Amino acid sequence: MKTRITELFKIQYPIVLSGMSWISTPELVAAVSNAGGLGILATGVLTADQTREAVQKIRSLTKKPFGANVTLYFPGAERNAQVLIEEKVPIINYSLGKGDKIAKAAHAYGGKVVATVTTHKHALAAQRDGADALIVTGYEAAGHGGAITSLVLIPAIADALDIPIIAAGGFADGRGLLAALALGADGIAMGTRFMNTKESPAAELAKQASVKSEVYHTVYTPRVDGLPARFMKSEGVERLLKKRLNPFSALIRSKKIADMLEFPWLKLAIGIMLMGPKRSMQMAQMAIGFDAFKLGTIDGDFTKGVLPLGQVSGIIKDTPTVKQVVDSIVKETVAIEKQLSKKVK
Ligand SMILES: Cc1cc2nc3c(=O)[nH]c(=O)nc-3n(C[C@H](O)[C@H](O)[C@H](O)COP(=O)(O)O)c2cc1C
Repeated sequence: MKTRITELFKIQYPIVLSGMSWISTPELVAAVSNAGGLGILATGVLTADQTREAVQKIRSLTKKPFGANVTLYFPGAERNAQVLIEEKVPIINYSLGKGDKIAKAAHAYGGKVVATVTTHKHALAAQRDGADALIVTGYEAAGHGGAITSLVLIPAIADALDIPIIAAGGFADGRGLLAALALGADGIAMGTRFMNTKESPAAELAKQASVKSEVYHTVYTPRVDGLPARFMKSEGVERLLKKRLNPFSALIRSKKIADMLEFPWLKLAIGIMLMGPKRSMQMAQMAIGFDAFKLGTIDGDFTKGVLPLGQVSGIIKDTPTVKQVVDSIVKETVAIEKQLSKKVK
């Protein structure tokens, strides 16, 4: 396959692993890159030293191009971005922040930069800041998708920009890849599909939940981590929806997060307070969501924890290997394109 994304990243297929905290580990990243796609490491819950080790581990597992993401909103993200630049990671993916400095530094060593966005405003800003491509995430997505469905958001943003787009949110098979290409994207990124593969470190219960889930079994709400995001319907989500935010307990949790990321807590607490009341409450909510994410994703506890899950889980019915996922998407895309060309004459 040849699209602007395969050319830009020098990969075989325009299929990307989304950066998912606790899930997009070196092993899963390497499996996707070795299968001909692009694996993206998630660094959101890693310290700077762990980020460096993870990048080196990926290099020991694959010789193919790979990426790593930084969620600029998180404490410690700028420090992790610096590590990715020092390690000359081929593709840096950033979200929820301004990426001009990252783009400048990555371009200096020949790296590429991809911004994850959900609106025109952020897409245009990322293009101005030097991003080489975008991941555009629609409403169907697990986690922080936009308010608009991929079917509408992808062509709308493709019409407004020159740089290539990777469509995310609702993609799991060849039908999806072909549709994304038709909508003006040059590739797809997938979270839910790759979370549910043999190589994924997600809890077996999370993989089984993704198989059992129907398209109706998710909920989109800002009440879990302060930003609108999609999760599997579960007791854990219901509990957080009813919970009133207790700033004191959020403060205690933020200490735990700061310790985990080896980030000075006082600096984090002062930084949060300086953000003003709205962002402070959002960060406090994020501190609560953080624990719940890990419990749901890695421990498979859906009573206390939450599982980010896309609507597309409703059409995912198996737990294959990464290579089987990539190969079957490629095969299906080619077969459907042939059928369509007979229909559309
Ligand atoms: C289990 C799981 C964990 C995720 N964790 C994160 C995360 O930590 N940060 C993030 O930006 N997106 C996260 N996402 C969202 C993905 O990066 C991606 O945007 C989304 O899965 C794409 O939509 P899809 O699920 O329909 O493929 C997660 C998704 C899943 C399924």
